[in-house]
Amino acid sequence: MSEAAQDGHSQQYGVETDSMTLQRFVLQEQKNHPHASGDFTNLLTSMLVAVKAIASATQKAGLAKLYGIAGETNVQGEEVKKLDVLSNELMINMLKSSYTTCMLVSEENEQLIEVEEKKRGNYIVCFDPLDGSSNIDCLVSIGTIFGIYKKKSENAPDISDVLRPGREMVAAGYALYGSATMVVLSTGNGVNGFTLDPSIGEFILTHPSMRCKPKGSIYSLNEGYAKTWSKGLAEYIRTRKDPEPGKKGMGQRYVGSMVADVHRTLLNGGIFLYPPTESAPSGKLRLLYECNPMAYIMEQAGGLATTGKERVLDIQPTKIHQRAPIILGSKQDVEEAMEFLKKYDN
Ligand code: AHM
Ligand code: MG
Repeated sequence: MSEAAQDGHSQQYGVETDSMTLQRFVLQEQKNHPHASGDFTNLLTSMLVAVKAIASATQKAGLAKLYGIAGETNVQGEEVKKLDVLSNELMINMLKSSYTTCMLVSEENEQLIEVEEKKRGNYIVCFDPLDGSSNIDCLVSIGTIFGIYKKKSENAPDISDVLRPGREMVAAGYALYGSATMVVLSTGNGVNGFTLDPSIGEFILTHPSMRCKPKGSIYSLNEGYAKTWSKGLAEYIRTRKDPEPGKKGMGQRYVGSMVADVHRTLLNGGIFLYPPTESAPSGKLRLLYECNPMAYIMEQAGGLATTGKERVLDIQPTKIHQRAPIILGSKQDVEEAMEFLKKYDN
């Protein structure tokens, strides 16, 4: 059949017959690595099943009575919602049964999860199955965040395969459950965004080669903690609101769901900050499965991510649940914030 005839059919039925699905995209990328085994594609395919199931559960959380407190607390002493439990189980089960992973770190599990020997593969996945869970009850966007490493040695995996700087990740990304479900992914070669087409259950490439603008007009942080900010941070934020004559100020947005706040920053530019606070002197967000994946995405999109003192992706972790302060977003905005920290806080 001619191409014109094929196009004719796709128009007639309103169906795209040659979509770039996420799986197809990753398969295509793998062709650039002649020795690739296909394991990475299998890992992602399995993880996407979990993401689709979480997206579906999120959408009917009220109907299925999935929100509300499950009566447990997680390792950080926070209330665990039912949807968190479900999302965590989905991620763990799908990743284990992909035969491609050997160790998993989840925000919801205090201990490192070791995959049983007969199901083991070479990848390590660190994830937050449902970030922003305090927002579930009010129907605000939430997300799943993940960072993927490859095992270093031929030997049985150990903790040194997990406690590695973020720059060693082979891929990272997030799923955002909002007005649509999106997966944003980097395998170290730029950033691409895929939107779930619910009619076919596939993620379609809708945002190729995403770039974070060099400068944005929005800053994003929890101003409720302003009293506990360092002098440098306080001055930076003050001057965004009350700029010197001739300079442009910035607007403010804060969802309180990291995935939503980072996604907006990636799309529109600007800066997202979760600095140290009185109650969380190292910041609140977790290095392995919140800060690192988002820092990786931001850098791959041309932006920056720092703790205020060092590049996030250069931190050598010592604990799987350790926290780190984070400032990320448009290159110029992050650099300006850093200048204030350097000037006032050293
Ligand atoms: P969670 O992992 O318990 O959901 O907490 C992480 C969330 C992030 O999504 C968000 O950036 C941050 O907590 C908001 O915290 P705060 O309410 O202190 O501003
Ligand atoms: Mg979280």
